[in-house]
Amino acid sequence: MKVLILSALLCMYSAVTHAATHAVTHAAPVSKSTEEAASMVEGPLPEVEMFAGQCPSGWFKKGSRCFLMVTSKKNWSNAATHCVGQQGSLASVQSSDEYNFLQTMVTFSGQSSAWIGGFHFQGAWRWIDSAGFYYTNWQTQNSVSRYPCLQLNSNGGWSNYNCRTSRAFFCARNGPPSC
Ligand SMILES: *[C@@H]1O[C@H](CO)[C@@H](O)[C@H](O)[C@H]1NC(C)=O
Repeated sequence: MKVLILSALLCMYSAVTHAATHAVTHAAPVSKSTEEAASMVEGPLPEVEMFAGQCPSGWFKKGSRCFLMVTSKKNWSNAATHCVGQQGSLASVQSSDEYNFLQTMVTFSGQSSAWIGGFHFQGAWRWIDSAGFYYTNWQTQNSVSRYPCLQLNSNGGWSNYNCRTSRAFFCARNGPPSC
């Protein structure tokens, strides 16, 4: 019962906060996207509790999922390990909405590309979080045997590259339960 009351209060709180944020955003539309995008780029963060209706601090909500951009560069497998340490996975990209969101972050962060969670294994492209590989956005596709890791490019689309290269990367995790 106490837990139920607490989560109801958190839902009310986050609804009010959300409304307030929207009011401010609508009052000052100028350079909103630049500021928003700049504030999206965060380094690794300690584990943070998830509040009702919100992503953990430093993560950004898109649809039903939360995304984190990590700008300290790592090779693909170390990036994947880092995301697991943040209770997430190297990000799958499951829709054009998610793709556009991540693409905007790469561009505003000044990175030329960032790792995402796609890799080629046993004849197929797969996502490390086990999502189905249905949505695609290829810019170029190189030899899958030499370049089995997927990167999202700031100049559009994604391509496969050498997994040992160090890059910024995206983690994703399931979003908070909706109220
Ligand atoms: C990734 O980087 C780590 C740390 O530098 C290194 O130990 C590991 O061998 C690298 N893995 C690959 C596939 O390059």
